[in-house]
Amino acid sequence: MKRIAVLTSGGDSPGMNPAIRAVVKKAIYHGLEVYGVYRGYEGLMDGDFRRFELKDVGNIIHRGGTILRSSRSERFKTEEGQKVAIDHLQKYNIDGLVVIGGDGSYRGANALHRKGVKTIGLPGTIDNDINGTDFTLGFSTAVNTVMEAVDKIRDTATSHERAFIIEVMGRDAGDIAAWAGLATGAESIFVPENITAKDKMIDRLNKGYERGKKHSIILVAEGIGTAEEFASYIKEKTNYDTRVSVLGHVQRGGSPVAFDRILGATLGGKAVELLMEGVSGKALGLEKNEISIYDYEYVFKEKPKHPIQVLCNLAIELSI
Ligand code: F6P
Repeated sequence: MKRIAVLTSGGDSPGMNPAIRAVVKKAIYHGLEVYGVYRGYEGLMDGDFRRFELKDVGNIIHRGGTILRSSRSERFKTEEGQKVAIDHLQKYNIDGLVVIGGDGSYRGANALHRKGVKTIGLPGTIDNDINGTDFTLGFSTAVNTVMEAVDKIRDTATSHERAFIIEVMGRDAGDIAAWAGLATGAESIFVPENITAKDKMIDRLNKGYERGKKHSIILVAEGIGTAEEFASYIKEKTNYDTRVSVLGHVQRGGSPVAFDRILGATLGGKAVELLMEGVSGKALGLEKNEISIYDYEYVFKEKPKHPIQVLCNLAIELSI
């Protein structure tokens, strides 16, 4: 293995830059040449490559987003798109590719692996929705971002005695809602993985109201419905004055917290090690504090077994 490349794909996440930095530095440390591929698979098909030196990853460890930029590519799903990408990799004599992204990015990495390109996947998404890892790059930072926002909303919710319904990201996964909900003392958390009974929430809100509790925080993961829908329901069934806040893309930005930087460094370093050993077709992660290494197929097979339900139930118990 003489030359490797790295790309970021799908929704960006804080922690991608520390991972890129680790891949580039570890590769150079071991005498490899390393290329940055811009704009994910789109750049791979356009030949948007640049040889990276140490200075290219200087001063990025603390930066959110991805210096390589990112894209969601439909074109790369086609045979033609993949062929063009492989031609570019061959032209540059690149023997291995590190792909940092979510489920869709792993599918692209798997397609390349099956066509003979050595690839290793790193879990880069704020959603934490990748099987085979307890945490993805960017998830912890996103939870902290949501926590800080909800803390601020709580101030005004209390002053005005309102119920706030806060919508957070998570198309298919409630990890951000569950973790941030527990961190902010939310009364109810609604996630795609389990159906927390809406009528039970109304009972809790009404009982709280009678006890004199006039403000409340409810977290909704976007995958289960909109905050507006929940607000109308609460308005109809309780005496609460309600307001809605959709946090949106603020959750994807910001300087990565220590955990995401360390995860990026650890997995980025391991990816290079594996490529140097000639390994391909593996998705890396962290399980029970150890680096996990799985075939992509295993990752695609099932949804992650994260304890979302446990966290949501606990939040209810702690909200009395
Ligand atoms: O990357 C995951 C994610 O942030 C989801 O939580 C969200 O639904 C989606 O990306 C938004 O994607 P886009 O930035 O393309 O609108």
